[in-house]
Amino acid sequence: MKKIVVLTGAGMSAESGIRTFREMGGLWEEYDVMEVASPQAWENNPELVLRFYNERRKKLFEAEPNQGHQGLVELEKYFDVQIITQNVDDLHERAGSKSVLHLHGELKKARSTANPNLIYELDHWELKLGDTCEKGSQLRPHIVWFGEAVHAIHDAALICETADVFVVIGTSLNVYPAAGLVDYAPNGIPIFLIDPNDVYSSNNRLTVIKEKAGTGVQKLITILKNEYL
Ligand code: OAD
Repeated sequence: MKKIVVLTGAGMSAESGIRTFREMGGLWEEYDVMEVASPQAWENNPELVLRFYNERRKKLFEAEPNQGHQGLVELEKYFDVQIITQNVDDLHERAGSKSVLHLHGELKKARSTANPNLIYELDHWELKLGDTCEKGSQLRPHIVWFGEAVHAIHDAALICETADVFVVIGTSLNVYPAAGLVDYAPNGIPIFLIDPNDVYSSNNRLTVIKEKAGTGVQKLITILKNEYL
């Protein structure tokens, strides 16, 4: 089976009602990223950080996977599909995708501030000051903040190196190291980019499908089936 590696970003979940970051009306227009998504923010104003992620989590509990997520599940009938996502939502998993690697953490999880290996699934949207791990330390969102290491990047790069086809969906390719993963795609393999807007990439091997994720993934399925089945 051919291996399709898919790198997804916020645009993947836009049609599920989850806001993107850098577009007009995006989250980073309303919030200063360093005041809600950095270790300094957590030190200076943990209430604000918790409120920011609680709002995101509340929306996520109300959201459903969209046609794009579902299309990637359909692709698994014909291909070995490995998803690498910058998204902290669980919409790929809820759609039914079998292999999902999260680069930037997971919104529905919290972890101990004392021991990063103590990670808990949240069954409710609200995480509060005073919510603690089993050892009594405050819990924080299980999110990779700006300035923190992206521990999954090494595994992600290894997956990219084994791709037969590489697909990028709904990311502005602004944030590294995630954006650099495209360059781990082996020489000569097809690389598709699905996005309704222009995305700058230094990689000149991209075939652009200028559509939203829902329609774009359907077009991709047709192209790949024609090419490989
Ligand atoms: P951005 O907000 O930077 O980019 C979103 C991309 O999605 C843009 O290129 C849009 O054109 C595109 N888009 C919008 N609607 C779409 C749709 N319906 N279908 C497909 N694409 C659509 O989001 P990311 O690139 O994911 O990190 O941002 C990367 C990281 O920056 C995030 O993981 C987050 C953020 O700060 C952390 O919080 C650590």
